[in-house]
Amino acid sequence: MTSGLFISFEGIDGAGKSTHLEALAQAFRAAGRAVVLTREPGGTPLAEQLRALALSAPMDPLTEALLMFAARRDHLQQVIEPALARGDVVLCDRFTDATFAYQGAGRGFDLGVLGQLERWVQAVDALPAGQLRQPQLTLWFELDPEAAARRLAGARAPDRFESQPAAFFRRVADGYERRAQADAQRFARIDGSQPREAVWQQVLAAVQGRGWLS
Ligand code: TMP
Repeated sequence: MTSGLFISFEGIDGAGKSTHLEALAQAFRAAGRAVVLTREPGGTPLAEQLRALALSAPMDPLTEALLMFAARRDHLQQVIEPALARGDVVLCDRFTDATFAYQGAGRGFDLGVLGQLERWVQAVDALPAGQLRQPQLTLWFELDPEAAARRLAGARAPDRFESQPAAFFRRVADGYERRAQADAQRFARIDGSQPREAVWQQVLAAVQGRGWLS
């Protein structure tokens, strides 16, 4: 049986990742793979409810972090783990790196607590004790926060994160940088300032480079 593949897409709001999720799904489907296209927070009925709350209701940083990880646990149990067990390709719009970047670096929340939550939530039955479910590849879309804000301007009513100032997104970008440095093999940097086709070529190259698409 083909083994499952877990790929996450990350970056600050407006970095342009979402356009390429669907294209990568199509590329895998064309290669005969079953694809699950999903997102965080969200991806299950419960997690989508938690998403709606996390993106709109005022709350303290611990509550926010707990909601993100509660949504993640349900998503893992209901969607990601079953899909990987079937041998599907899971393309996930954000995963735990976003929590370290947004709640950790952006909000300044305790990274040790986030690490503990990560260890609880991402310990899954399919893996030996001590091993955590993580994406095999994280496509990290890098874009200057000012350029990202220009892209988002007027697109839709901003949520609790999108309405943050550029300084917040600068910290979020630094948070991604630290996660990337700590796990360099897993991360592929995508230069999001390039024209769309050039960005797509970078996405494809990262996946092809790992031998997952020809
Ligand atoms: P999206 O707009 O890319 O779907 O993401 C929703 C927002 O949620 C985005 O602003 C980033 C934020 N977020 C966190 O703050 N922490 C997390 O763990 C995740 C997954 C998303």
